[in-house]
Amino acid sequence: MKVIELIDVFKIYKTEFYEVHALNGITMNVEKGEFIAIMGPSGSGKSTLLHLIGCLDKPTKGEVIINGTETSKLSDGELTKLRRDSIGFIFQQYNLVPTLTALENVELPMIFKGIPKEERKEKAMDLLRQVGIEDLADRKPKEISGGQQQRVAIARALANSPAILLCDEPTGNLDSKTGRQVIEIIRKMNEERGVTVILVTHDFSLADYADRIVKIRDGKIEGARD
Ligand SMILES: Nc1ncnc2c1ncn2[C@@H]1O[C@H](COP(=O)(O)OP(=O)(O)O)[C@@H](O)[C@H]1O
Ligand SMILES: [Mg+2]
Repeated sequence: MKVIELIDVFKIYKTEFYEVHALNGITMNVEKGEFIAIMGPSGSGKSTLLHLIGCLDKPTKGEVIINGTETSKLSDGELTKLRRDSIGFIFQQYNLVPTLTALENVELPMIFKGIPKEERKEKAMDLLRQVGIEDLADRKPKEISGGQQQRVAIARALANSPAILLCDEPTGNLDSKTGRQVIEIIRKMNEERGVTVILVTHDFSLADYADRIVKIRDGKIEGARD
């Protein structure tokens, strides 16, 4: 089953003074449970592509189909629900809430969804266990390392059991050993939970964890290998 389908997708950023053609006709399909690495030079459109798949932005032209639904047909409320229930994001900068503990950060998406407190805490603790940091549940982000913060971010991204996990250079701030551990956790979550993963990375050794590598350049797919 196709979980993501992009059909001839273009994205043009227009400002008062210039236009940037960030994506120039991307067509790709992602099957449920796949782990895909996206590689390409800086400025080639990788983050733009993740934003469109994650429904954080809309294409200028073309179709973005998530779980069989053409997203341009959805209202803002329906898009918010799709993002909340079906898509998890992790970023290079972790983006944790600094005033909340690790456990509370993981609980946050479940609060937005209205999950009752007891169930929420139990599930958050279970996720922290799965990423190997249950003993750090009461620490705030600045009291743990970058690799540990990224583990919290992975747990948070998976809190509402999304179908899709989008990872934008999640190891960009980590040393290579820690980066590898983080990718191994993402791969484990992909295998154990069946979450579909799209990983943007510069690092060929990390892209090796993927089932398939998609290379993009100047907003176009350059070539994909199995
Ligand atoms: N919000 C924006 N407004 C204008 N231009 C943008 C915006 N976001 C990205 N761009 C431009 O679009 C191109 C693709 O950017 P991006 O998707 O961030 O590439 P990558 O993630 O591969 O480095 C770049 O030329 C970038 O400067
Ligand atoms: Mg980027």
